[in-house]
Amino acid sequence: CGIVGYIGKRDVAPLLLEGLQRLEYRGYDSAGIVVTSPKAAGLKMVKAKGRVRDLEARVPKRFAGTTGIAHTRWATHGAPSDVNAHPHLDPENKVAVVHNGIVDNAAELRAKLEAEGVVFASETDTEVITHLIARSQADSLEEKVREALKHIEGTYGIAVMHADFNDRIVVARNGSPVVLGIGEKEMFVASDVAALVTHTRQVVTLDDGEMATLKADDFRTYTTTGASTNATPETVEWEAASYDMGGHDTYMHKEISEQPDAVDRVLRGRIDDRFSTVHLGGLNLDAREARSIRRIKILGCGTSYHAGLIGASLIEGMARIPADAEPASEFRYRNPVVDPDTLYIAVSQSGETYDVLAAVQELKRKGARVLGVVNVVGSAIAREADGGVYVHAGPEVCVVSTKCFTNTVVAFALLALHLGRIRDLSVTDGKRIIEGLRKLPGQIEEILKTEDEIKKLAKEYAGAQSMMFIGRVRGYPVALEASLKLKEISYIHAEAYPASELKHGPLALIEPALPTVAIVPDDDLLEKNRAALEEIKARSGRILAVAHQPQEKADHTIVVPKNEDELDPILMGIPLQLLAYHTALAMGRDIDKPRNLAKSVTVE
Ligand code: G6P
Repeated sequence: CGIVGYIGKRDVAPLLLEGLQRLEYRGYDSAGIVVTSPKAAGLKMVKAKGRVRDLEARVPKRFAGTTGIAHTRWATHGAPSDVNAHPHLDPENKVAVVHNGIVDNAAELRAKLEAEGVVFASETDTEVITHLIARSQADSLEEKVREALKHIEGTYGIAVMHADFNDRIVVARNGSPVVLGIGEKEMFVASDVAALVTHTRQVVTLDDGEMATLKADDFRTYTTTGASTNATPETVEWEAASYDMGGHDTYMHKEISEQPDAVDRVLRGRIDDRFSTVHLGGLNLDAREARSIRRIKILGCGTSYHAGLIGASLIEGMARIPADAEPASEFRYRNPVVDPDTLYIAVSQSGETYDVLAAVQELKRKGARVLGVVNVVGSAIAREADGGVYVHAGPEVCVVSTKCFTNTVVAFALLALHLGRIRDLSVTDGKRIIEGLRKLPGQIEEILKTEDEIKKLAKEYAGAQSMMFIGRVRGYPVALEASLKLKEISYIHAEAYPASELKHGPLALIEPALPTVAIVPDDDLLEKNRAALEEIKARSGRILAVAHQPQEKADHTIVVPKNEDELDPILMGIPLQLLAYHTALAMGRDIDKPRNLAKSVTVE
């Protein structure tokens, strides 16, 4: 979900609608806006099911105001609808609340309020916050919000307006991001800097348990218990332009195309040719500590989990430390054994995914050492971790991840090299990997040049009801990620299997109508992989291979440039991003905003 708010002198509705557009990738099933001004008698609100453009169409011509808050939603409690859209007002139209997160005790609070005669307008958990604020007898809006939050269990990023205190917006954070944007005689608030960067680069990121009051010419931060925190603004490094489509038709296409530059960025300044290793300044792990690690456990969700799988194999291969990856969402619910000699690594593009954050918090509470591999600087996971590696992919707007996936894997290669060179990886191997890393941007460029060919293949395969993706060892996570990408944006059913497992079950599915995409790198497993292609061909299956040389058994081969065996998975994933993209395009899908998904899932 996304929150945006403004207080100043400008006409607020267009500003907020533009902010919502920039946040729409965070949720897009309904949206709403409420505005007022110092002289206005009350609050004016418009809400709509659907996209921000549906809301925009409903906003009346005369909707003047200089203070306002707005929201775009990804439904958790209550289906997407006009009434369930935020903001939520009390029956007297005095209090308006927008909320990201989940109120865990909403049902209980709702029952209590209903017993006191409160009539609810929506099914959302957020509405309880509105009523609690409206019913508070405290004298100031800050105190009313503070009193209400005392009853709330769960996570929130909220922004609150009140008709009787219309010179201010009060915001609070617990587990869901809130960023203040500091302007000249105007203040902004948002759940994501994406909504702020066109207006100001001076920002204050609230901590959990922190609140703020925004007035047109002033802001103040304090804790939920009232103690001042005196936060000072920082300058954000991301440029407003990185949130624009820059001549591409979709963010996904833009972000796929940006990969050569993005990979260049994650490498920049980190390679140490003298010792054939890399410097990772934020790791916070000295050589002695690095040597004492007995295991590595990588945690992430979705695409980041897949990047973690490749990361685990890179670390195991280069540093010879047993490593594996697990979905953070599973890990946190299975009462895992937290071992003092294990290094935990949390992977997250946004740094906000709740399942990952909760796993990190649980690990820290148990005394574990946790590193982050994160894209968004200063995000919750980055701050919670003991150290880590930023992946420097720049802002990623398309819901499905492409450049962040690639950069995360490269960041893992750097970490693996670093750990390897402290342990058993030879200078020669270190040099070999560094040379391979340096080749990546140019080789990605080469792959991107084959887009027209991939587009033709996509047309050919777009009619399939279902697709199989196979890979072996290093190639298996590539297959998993390619299959996820295809299903997310084209809605074609896809399965990914280790090539070696085919004969243990999925071979039963193979027939001409079920095409297989096979990852066939030119490495020590080439012959084994070729054997799998034969198994498929013998059952009249169609095959699209991604390989370093044309495959005789395949109907089509996408040939990619060869790098070092360890780094090949990075390159082999890229044509499959384009394949998913062009398949979805040929099917007329809404590529940047696939149905039912959101970019950052900041709820359980
Ligand atoms: C959501 C997105 C996925 C993403 C996952 C993890 O489910 O739809 O594309 O991979 O979250 O996000 P993160 O920001 O933690 O990498």
